[in-house]
Order: sequence, then C-alpha cells, then structure tokens
Amino acid sequence: MSTMRAAVLIEPGRFEVRDVPRPEPKRDEALIRIARTGICGTDMHIFHGHYAAESLPMIPGHEFTGHVAAVGAGVSDLSEGKPVVVDMNIGCTRCYWCRRNEILNCPEMQQMGITMDGAFAEYISVPARLVIPAPAETPAEVLALTEPLACVVRAARKARVTFGQTVVVIGAGPIGNLHVQLLRTIGAAPIIVSDISQARLDMAKEGGADIAVLPDQLQDAVQSATQGRGADIVIESVGNAALYAQAQTLMRKGGHLAVFGLTGPEETLSLDILTTILDENSVKGSVAGMGQDMHDALTLLTHGRIKTKAFTGADYPLEDIQAAFDSFADRPQDLKTQIVM
Ligand SMILES: NC(=O)c1ccc[n+]([C@@H]2O[C@H](COP(=O)([O-])OP(=O)(O)OC[C@H]3O[C@@H](n4cnc5c(N)ncnc54)[C@H](O)[C@@H]3O)[C@@H](O)[C@H]2O)c1
Ligand SMILES: [Zn+2]
Ligand SMILES: [Zn+2]
Repeated sequence: MSTMRAAVLIEPGRFEVRDVPRPEPKRDEALIRIARTGICGTDMHIFHGHYAAESLPMIPGHEFTGHVAAVGAGVSDLSEGKPVVVDMNIGCTRCYWCRRNEILNCPEMQQMGITMDGAFAEYISVPARLVIPAPAETPAEVLALTEPLACVVRAARKARVTFGQTVVVIGAGPIGNLHVQLLRTIGAAPIIVSDISQARLDMAKEGGADIAVLPDQLQDAVQSATQGRGADIVIESVGNAALYAQAQTLMRKGGHLAVFGLTGPEETLSLDILTTILDENSVKGSVAGMGQDMHDALTLLTHGRIKTKAFTGADYPLEDIQAAFDSFADRPQDLKTQIVM
C-alpha cells in the first residue's frame, strides 16, 4: 500500500506529521494532489479542542487547492494534472436541503477536515462532483483562498447586497477583510469597518473600506455617514454577543443584520419584536460557502477582483505545521497562513 505525509491532530494542541495510507479514489471520486491548504479560525478552534473534538485523531484542513492525480472508474470529466479547488461540504445530494444548496442542514452532511480527514496532507480523495476546475494561470496561493471567500460570497448573497448600499463590517480579521473587498467589488458605499487593531483597519482601508474606525468611534461614524439613518446592512464578523447587540443599533429602519461571526453555543441575540415588525428589519444567518458560492468565489479570484497580497506570503511546510499553529495568534499581520505540501 502506498503512503503519504499527513498532519494528524492527535489531541488538542498536538500535531504529528507522519506516514499514513494514501487514499485510493473510489468509483465516483477524484484523488487530489494537494498543493496548499490555508489555516482558518475554525482550524484554530479544532486545534484548541473547542470544536469537532469528537473527530480526533484527524487530519484537519479544508481550504485547499491542488491538481487531479487520479480518478475513479466512474469519473470521465476530470483529467489528470488539472488544477482544482474543492467544495468541502459533502451532502447526500438527494434531500430537501441539498437540493436547495443548504447542505449544512443535510442530515448526512460531512465536512472535509472537520467531520472527516481533510487537507493538511499530500493527498485527499473527494467526490468528483465537488471538484471545481481552476485556470492553470492562477497561482495556488490565490486558489486556496476560494473557500474562505465563498463564505463571504454566501453572506453577501443572503444579505442581498447591491451597489450604493451602506454596509458596516464589524471586525477586520481575515474574513472581515474579505467582506470589505467583496463589498467594494459589488459597489456598496460607503463601506464602514471597525476593529480594535489599527493595523487591521489599515489593511481594510487598503482593501477598499471608505471609513475604518476603532470600536468607540463606530456609532458616530455610521450616524454621520448616513445622515442619522443607520446602515442598510451590518455584518458581524467577530463573533461576540455584545457586538451583535450593538449591530442592531447601527442598522437603519428596514435594515439587515447579517448573523455571521460565530459565538459560543449558549449566546443569544435579543431583538425587540415590535420594532422588528414595524421597521421591517431582517436578521439572517449565513454559514460556510458551497455550490454556487464556491464557483462565484473562484471566478472573482481568477479575474483579479480580490487583492490577495495581504493574504499571501505566510507559508509553512507541512513538516512545520505545529509551529504554524503555535505561532498563529502572535502573527496578526498575517491575514492568512498556508501550509505548503
Ligand atoms: N458564518 C460563516 O460562514 C463564517 C465563515 C468563516 C468565519 N466565520 C466567523 O467569522 C468571524 C470572523 O472570522 P475571522 O477569521 O476574521 O476571525 P478573527 O478572530 O481572526 O478576526 C476577528 C477580528 O475581530 C477583531 N475584533 C475583536 N474585538 C472587536 C471589537 N470589539 N470590535 C471590532 N473588532 C473586533 C479582532 O481584532 C480581529 O481582527 C469569526 O467569528 C469566525 O468564526 C463565520
Ligand atoms: Zn475555514
Ligand atoms: Zn442531503
């Protein structure tokens, strides 16, 4: 049996890079030779044992790109060597939710690198229907941003963002920065962002935010940019219940609150029922990116609609994955860290 190198998270906080059996593509699968896999907040939660702990020991990693290395007997539309990205969300394809592209509600849903082995490894075998061919000219470090951008694409779709709308993004982390850039591409204006870190606010300005302020200036900034009305859309991209409460005060009557930043499981969001009715406010969750979200994210990246420079350059070889995770919190200047196979 052939083997491959893979980073197995043995227990919270401890990776072991070792030889494991290399997967064989089943009939309807494609074997992907992975080039790069990004580390995201969810991976950090898994690393610290706060999420998907029941899956350990496991190979995490879900933001990946690579090329087709082999295909199963039932796959005719993918050729060896083709660069690809992969939709990490595996639904049954037949249920009510799968047909609606709401795969995370599928009762049989699996996610690569979360509920099953993922992409901090040399190879992964995946259902061929989830493989999306990518142009050979786009660098792998850019293609590996498809999945995080897809999450942001989905949120913008759910919030029905259009040109000319005032949008507030609370939090200029890696994902908040992608929100800002996508909003700029859509034509939202003005885009107002807040963060506790001036360095991250500077990145958001670079990425297209019109107004980038520290949290204590946010309320005034929104009021003055909207003649006191409030923003059309507020996206919470931190994951803090108090900020969700504040988000409601930043929204105009009839505005939209994008419930996006992940809080702990016990947190609640209270809303004034009568105000919600009379003002016709909307509050909507959005999770992950799948199907069309992945396609759209890939299209935006391959056509240069996202400035990726701030998201590239922090690379670690697979053998040093432990150091990449251990140092993650100390490297706020690195909007994205990628593991290179
Ligand atoms: N719903 C989804 O599909 C989805 C997808 C990806 C990530 N997320 C969630 O989105 C959130 C953002 O992701 P990320 O990777 O950028 O997270 P991150 O933790 O890396 O970044 C959060 C940012 O918020 C800033 N921040 C902290 N307190 C703040 C405050 N009081 N006001 C303003 N900014 C503040 C931090 O300085 C940091 O820059 C997380 O909660 C993540 O879990 C959701
Ligand atoms: Zn992720
Ligand atoms: Zn299903």
